[in-house]
Amino acid sequence: MKQKIIAITKEINIKMLKGISRKGSSLDMALVYALEVQGKRLRPLLFLSFIDAFNENGFDYKDYFDIACAIEYIHTYSLIHDDLPSMDNDDYRRGQPTVHKKFDPAIALLAGDTLLTLALEKIADSKIDNNKIVEIMKIITKSIGSLGMAGGQALDLGFSGKKEEIFNIHKMKTAELITAAILSAAEIIGMSKEKKDKVREAGILIGIAFQMADDLLDIEGDEKLVGKKLNKDIENDSPNSVYFYGKDFIKKEIENSYKKTIEIFNKLEINSDVFLYLIKKMVYRSK
Ligand code: IPE
Ligand code: IPE
Ligand code: MG
Ligand code: MG
Repeated sequence: MKQKIIAITKEINIKMLKGISRKGSSLDMALVYALEVQGKRLRPLLFLSFIDAFNENGFDYKDYFDIACAIEYIHTYSLIHDDLPSMDNDDYRRGQPTVHKKFDPAIALLAGDTLLTLALEKIADSKIDNNKIVEIMKIITKSIGSLGMAGGQALDLGFSGKKEEIFNIHKMKTAELITAAILSAAEIIGMSKEKKDKVREAGILIGIAFQMADDLLDIEGDEKLVGKKLNKDIENDSPNSVYFYGKDFIKKEIENSYKKTIEIFNKLEINSDVFLYLIKKMVYRSK
């Protein structure tokens, strides 16, 4: 199973770089730099392995790499912008200097813009049924707009210190895009509205728990494995759930969310061992 994850990750990495022009401008170089570093590729892996769970119904995950790459382009864009001096002001990401450190903030801004644009182009070009393209476009764009990632990032930056707001920020800035990756797969499979609602519920639950795990890693992770500077959230007055609720409470919440998520996916008969393994690794992880 791990071999399969490694093989799919390799393919995602190759396909993502294929979409990038190599004319040698600083923008081109920044894009290659941002995509060559090794992220976990969690969101495209969730998307592809969910489809793979329906292999016997005639769905081949290999037909959907365009959308998988698009989702990772969007995530990478969100990280490049998240690290900017005007946002979290981070110097390290994925074990390397951030894009604005290696190049400059203007190029980092444009690299993010380009990745988002390229993502939309990839989805539009995808060789699947046009109605499904429109639905997936709606799912993904909604998840990263003012009600999703971008809106959540704005709330994160303007965090008032009220701990009751933290889980909504986690939902918007992190869980919505993760959910969109899984829901896009559900759309491809042609799941009923009722089942998609359950998929959404599970995605939000595990997505919030994923951000809680990120908050924990900021405090007690291993810098080398995490690939980012630790203890940044306190420095930035960021809404780190562990600071406000304590380690024990957050660890319990993570466990409860994980159990509920697995219950939902079991009921939906999503029996891909790769998918279920990824769900577990989202919350029990060292990087
Ligand atoms: C980091 O995401 C930002 C959060 C939403 C917590 P990942 O932990 O998926 O980062 P990469 O892609 O592996 O670098
Ligand atoms: C950022 O959350 C989530 C995004 C939408 C990029 P964090 O600020 O906690 O993510 P890291 O710790 O920088 O990866
Ligand atoms: Mg950050
Ligand atoms: Mg963090």
